[in-house]
Amino acid sequence: MSTAPPPQHCPTPRELDDLELLSTGALAPTSSFNAPGSPVTLTLPPELVEAGTVELVDPEGLPLALVSATATGEWTVKPLTHAQFGPYRRLYLTPDEARKLHAGRTFVPVADPLTAAQISRLREAGPVTLLALVGAGTPSLSPVGLVRATLAAAEQLDAEVVAVPLAAHDDAEADHALGVQVVANYAGPDPVLALPEPSAEDEAYPAEIQAIVDFDSPPEDRQGLVLFFTGLSGSGKSTLARALMDRILEAGERTVTSLDGDVVRRNLSAGLTFSREDRETNIRRIGWVAAEISRHGGIAVCSPIAPFDETRQQVRSMVDEAGGAFFLVHVATPLEECERRDRKGLYAKARRGEIPEFTGISSPYEEPADAAVRVDTTGRTIEDCLDEVIRALNEQGYLHPTA
Ligand code: ADX
Repeated sequence: MSTAPPPQHCPTPRELDDLELLSTGALAPTSSFNAPGSPVTLTLPPELVEAGTVELVDPEGLPLALVSATATGEWTVKPLTHAQFGPYRRLYLTPDEARKLHAGRTFVPVADPLTAAQISRLREAGPVTLLALVGAGTPSLSPVGLVRATLAAAEQLDAEVVAVPLAAHDDAEADHALGVQVVANYAGPDPVLALPEPSAEDEAYPAEIQAIVDFDSPPEDRQGLVLFFTGLSGSGKSTLARALMDRILEAGERTVTSLDGDVVRRNLSAGLTFSREDRETNIRRIGWVAAEISRHGGIAVCSPIAPFDETRQQVRSMVDEAGGAFFLVHVATPLEECERRDRKGLYAKARRGEIPEFTGISSPYEEPADAAVRVDTTGRTIEDCLDEVIRALNEQGYLHPTA
């Protein structure tokens, strides 16, 4: 008799980090998700909660652990495999390994790059092991950036580096307690040294570390950027987006990719309909590609209708997670004007009932409340509208005023 394999689920980056710490014993005495009062939680879709046992996989589908529900609502963890890839994996030691390899050293938790003053201070601390706290939401740099900065500091000291994926939850107090616990588990009987925040006059980094920080978080005018135009069909999104792209290309300092609604529907999203579900899929695809472009410091100019607030918010988070900036432009030309223009004749058809679920006529458009700029193109030239968008971008430091 064969039993069905447990359903699979890929947790969020924060949950994956928590899973790793639970699996290695770094969170001891906590050993399961959703323990009472613990911020280390796992949210599963209702049908999986009912299954009772779930296989957690990484984003590429590698099974990491089996989790099982207890009568008290906790989820116990049975590790299957360790995450094996990712930069500096070799530095991700378990507390047992760290205690063995680094016995007799002082353990120093580090969530930010070390300043020159902090490094001088550590020179007096004898042999130290720097615990780079690289979990989701903890360091101001990317995880790889923090490890690189910490290795650069270690070179100036008698220091070793261990990476610890201690994630941040939404509760600063609980996170502090959790951090203390994790660091104590790594240090074992050895001393822990918690560095105080650097004072305002001690914020300078050594040159090598400054270079790593600069590479990791480029200034706004070099940062990856997603310019997202949302609005009704015929509102002027594509025209404005195209004009903005031309200006950016003429300035010659950045690369740009266009993800126009109609164009995307002819390739990346070919075959999708205009049902709510398919529109959400369409926008998430655009968001995914745009976020990847922003990860590399490029500019993505997107111009789909994107009628649903929730999907736009998802794109914002995807871009945010990729380290890009998200700039939402609401092309707020009213329906009457879009319908009067009716350049493609679609509104007339929609009114005659020949196109179902047409945005503004028989399908909703949710106006954004979080747009960085709102432009109504009625009775205005493209140049005039474009200047307004560029002014708003410049004010936030995103493009050079030459664009
Ligand atoms: S979205 O809702 O998924 O964001 P998207 O921007 O990709 O829409 O596509 C909108 C374009 O598809 C419109 O500019 C219009 O040319 C065309 N279109 C065809 N059918 C519809 C419809 N039912 N609703 C809106 N646009 C439609």
